[in-house]
Amino acid sequence: MIGMIISFANIKGGSGKTTSSALLISGLIERGYRVAALDCDPLWTLHEWCSTAGPSRLSSARAEKAADISRHLDQFKRQADFIVVDLSAATDVMNALTFALSDFVVVPMQGSAVDARGAIHTLNLLKLVEENRRMVIKSSVLLTRLNPIVLTHSAKHVNQVIAEQKIPFLDAAILERSAYRDMFMKMESLFGAEDPRIHNLEKARRDILYLTDAVQKRLAS
Ligand SMILES: Nc1ncnc2c1ncn2[C@@H]1O[C@H](COP(=O)(O)OP(=O)(O)OP(=O)(O)O)[C@@H](O)[C@H]1O
Ligand SMILES: [Mg+2]
Repeated sequence: MIGMIISFANIKGGSGKTTSSALLISGLIERGYRVAALDCDPLWTLHEWCSTAGPSRLSSARAEKAADISRHLDQFKRQADFIVVDLSAATDVMNALTFALSDFVVVPMQGSAVDARGAIHTLNLLKLVEENRRMVIKSSVLLTRLNPIVLTHSAKHVNQVIAEQKIPFLDAAILERSAYRDMFMKMESLFGAEDPRIHNLEKARRDILYLTDAVQKRLAS
């Protein structure tokens, strides 16, 4: 069994890579898969979250330099069904290497023009890797921190810009939810959390599984 590598990348900081990574990891674990996480962000938030929140079916490691990425991925591929890589902003070399090793690259992006610029830069880097390796790497844009009530002018504009570039959106988006911030406060998975103060926990769980299924569907397509 060779695990599938899913990486989260956007050169723009704060676009939602770490949050999306943790949500997908918890969804895959909830679905019963063995998951490994590789944290490439020097704040090591995802690694700490995995170490605290994760059950035994979840392993994680930190990658400080490009050489760590291939070493860990090589090992994880033989142990896990899915490997989730949380890339850091503004490190083109580590991003490019990870793209070349990935089965699926997800580009999380808030509905803002600044995040869209980061997404386009990231996707251009991906295109460069694809052309050089003469291979197609699956990729999707994932809208994050979506306001469930209003589609802002900015978000509409961004949708249009991305659509013009013919970049496929993932068939799921991540809403703005306090539960997604709270899970890093106690470093826990929303499937394990029973704190009644977590707002809309059941809806958050439902959305996480919806995201997980959309990622799996795209991987299978
Ligand atoms: N869906 C969401 N709902 C609520 N808050 C969110 C959501 N997504 C992200 N955030 C918050 O936005 C901030 C940035 O998110 P996150 O750390 O996931 O982005 P990132 O792309 O990993 O950032 P960096 O480039 O610094 O690694 C964090 O404070 C996080 O808690
Ligand atoms: Mg991050």
